[in-house]
This record gives sequence, C-alpha cells and structure tokens, in this order.
Amino acid sequence: MAIRPILTAPDPRLKTISKPVETVDDELRALMDDMLETMYDAPGIGLAAIQIGVPKRVIVMDLAGKDEEPQPRYFVNPEITWTSDEMSSYEEGCLSVPEMYEDVQRPARIKARWLDYHGNPVEVEADGMLATCLQHEMDHLEGVLFIDHLSKLKRDIILRKMTKAKKRYG
Ligand code: NI
Repeated sequence: MAIRPILTAPDPRLKTISKPVETVDDELRALMDDMLETMYDAPGIGLAAIQIGVPKRVIVMDLAGKDEEPQPRYFVNPEITWTSDEMSSYEEGCLSVPEMYEDVQRPARIKARWLDYHGNPVEVEADGMLATCLQHEMDHLEGVLFIDHLSKLKRDIILRKMTKAKKRYG
C-alpha cells in the first residue's frame, strides 16, 4: 500500500469524467488499498480515485466515529437509482478543497448500487452521512466539486483563497 498525492482545486484533472471499471481484480484492489491509506492519512472520510489522478469510477469511504473500529467501504461503478424529494443540508469539506467548509443541499435519501471490494453487487437505501458522502464522492466521478453547488460568488472566493495558498506554499 502507498500514500498517493491528492490533487487540489483548481487542478484541471479534477474536472475529468471518470471511466467505468471493467473488472474488479487485484490491480483494482491495490488501487483501492492505496486510496484508503491515502484517505486515512489525510485524514478524510471519503476519496474518489480521480482525487489521486486516476480517472476510474471508484470511491473509498469510512464513516466510523473516532472511537469506533474502522469501517472501510469500497464503491466500484456506483449508480444512484432514486433520490428523495426531501433535501438535507450538511456542512461539507473535501480533501481536494482543503480547509474550506460550506453547507450544501442534497437529496436526504437515495437508493444506490455498486460493486464492492470483491466485485459483488450491493444495493442499499441510504440517508444521513452515507447519503451525503456518497453523493459528494459520486460528483467527483463527474468532475464536480462541492464548491460547484455554491453560488458563483462563494465559489470564486474559495478558489481565489486556494490559488493564493498554493502560491504561498508551492
Ligand atoms: Ni471531495
């Protein structure tokens, strides 16, 4: 396993539309292992492959609390099959937009399906953190960041801060 560098906005690679995975094999599992290690190291609760520059439809996540056992989750080729009309709002952050947090509105409940670490199909109805986090991570697969859900004014302020910080720290 290896920790990989995380791309940060406004890196144009984050706008890539990721490609479906054809087979869940050892090579893909090695990528998922690296993604999980990179996410834990950051630390974060979710990571899409494109955030380490790999344009594949793969996500890792762990929503366990600080005092709980780790609960790694793996999502290959995730699809949302239903969303509730009811919306909920969470303060979101992103490893590719470090230190910026804003409220984002998304459907409160979703039904989704994907392939797990072993390539087995999974289908769930989710709400709360899982619903929000999965929608956030699936946006990455379409080249969308949480700041793209904000007003242009708010997004521009955040991107300007990010660019300044990059200049400062290189
Ligand atoms: Ni993110």
